Amino acid sequence: MIELMKEEDLEQVLQIENDSFSNPWSRKYFLNEIANNDLSELYVEKIDGEVISYGDLWYMFENCDLTKIAVAKNHRNKGYGKKMLKYLIATANKRGCEFMHLEVNVNNAEALKLYEGFGFEPVRTRKRYYENGDDAYDMMRGLIGESQPKKVLAIESSCDETACAIIDEDLNVLSSVVTSQIDVHARFGGVIPEVASRMHVEQISTIIKEAVDQAKVSMDEIDAIAYTIGPGLIGSLHVGAIGAKSLAFFYDKPLIGVHHLKGHIFINELIKPLQYPMMALVVSGGHTELVYIENDQSFRIIGTTLDDAIGEAYDKVARVMKEAYPGGPVIDRLAKQGKAHYQLPTPKVDGYNFSFSGLKNAVLQLVKKEEAAGNEINKEDLAYAFQEVALNTLVKKTKAALEEYPCKSVVIAGGVAANSRLRELMKENFADKDLILPPLKYCTDNALMIACAALHYLKAGKFVGLDASSMPSMSIED
Ligand code: KG4
Ligand code: ZN
Repeated sequence: MIELMKEEDLEQVLQIENDSFSNPWSRKYFLNEIANNDLSELYVEKIDGEVISYGDLWYMFENCDLTKIAVAKNHRNKGYGKKMLKYLIATANKRGCEFMHLEVNVNNAEALKLYEGFGFEPVRTRKRYYENGDDAYDMMRGLIGESQPKKVLAIESSCDETACAIIDEDLNVLSSVVTSQIDVHARFGGVIPEVASRMHVEQISTIIKEAVDQAKVSMDEIDAIAYTIGPGLIGSLHVGAIGAKSLAFFYDKPLIGVHHLKGHIFINELIKPLQYPMMALVVSGGHTELVYIENDQSFRIIGTTLDDAIGEAYDKVARVMKEAYPGGPVIDRLAKQGKAHYQLPTPKVDGYNFSFSGLKNAVLQLVKKEEAAGNEINKEDLAYAFQEVALNTLVKKTKAALEEYPCKSVVIAGGVAANSRLRELMKENFADKDLILPPLKYCTDNALMIACAALHYLKAGKFVGLDASSMPSMSIED
């Protein structure tokens, strides 16, 4: 996310500055730019708290000076410089500037190429401008008529989170608001659909308003409205659909119906660009699927569960162990303290399909047997045994699928992608691939993921009408 630089970013920015320039700006200079220089605004792109790039603009009436742009050493050549420059141009344009100006060393071929690619042209040469005697070019570019990146407002309400987010097509996150009903459902040991729908109804207007306020945009600036069209709980889906359709109708915006699981996959673009073909291991409360993704518009399910989804199995096993809902995080935590003690059967299913109900029943039988014998179950060991069998099955099948469907990258997506042992196993087994493990904050349901996926629908011109039906059991291939 690109945002205004704060003092807390200074240490990281100084490190990049010193790595990048022979004549770096000092701490004092940066502090002055942040705090005292009314003309200047410094922007940073941060991912999970790490500064990736930064840029400085000086606003001087109709002209805007680009006085600095730099990318962290370990993130160069990944498109972050272009992303920052694009953002700075769009921002200056939005502020009403008509020109952008910069100076660049005539011998810095890489920087010249970048600037020329963005329409900057040399207007004069400044002789011996730099300390080492090198010349500089003054480069200029007009900003009038610059189109702003398209913005999407997205709503997610497929299960027990009500969420709204706004993103632009350059993947700048303008806002993301999520409320979870988990505490309420925990009392019942699982999501109660009727309760979920009612709570979505109570929350949705406030959440949308908060997302719009946070993004500091007017509805006029939004280019499309997206929502989760399926799969999910039908009542919950309806609430999001009605929210999205009301906005689309009232503000006359195109409407995009997003597949929830595509959201879990595309949110990873906030971390790095996706490479195709890609294998996605989708592991959530409702799905366990191996999806071969040839490109951003082509999804093919090559394996699926024949009975319980993996997250569902985690939740049910936790319930057998009299642990709270959702069971996934509890078992994840217990298993860390467990050891190999109990024996559980490995599911045997042909091809790339999965089955977890036998494993779940084996846990139930084991608990009953131990209880009947008057033995206390060691929960840590049981969690360990269940998890090792379940997760190794997932990894083994993914490995086999990759032999038949070679891929550049492998991604895990869905709530169970938060599991610490699964993440460990993925790293051990797919070190040779571009492995994408979503940051924990993106594993649970949110609207940012729907917004990220919606950009691909927007690009392909895939819209739905106001009469579109929500689809509780929609396939990712649809
Ligand atoms: O994707 P998600 O938030 O909702 C659906 O779309 O289904 O996934 C929820 C599932 C729940 O079954 C929950 O127990 C599981 O993800 N989960 C985990 C962990 N965190 C959440 N499972 C295993 N380990 C975790 N750390
Ligand atoms: Zn989900």
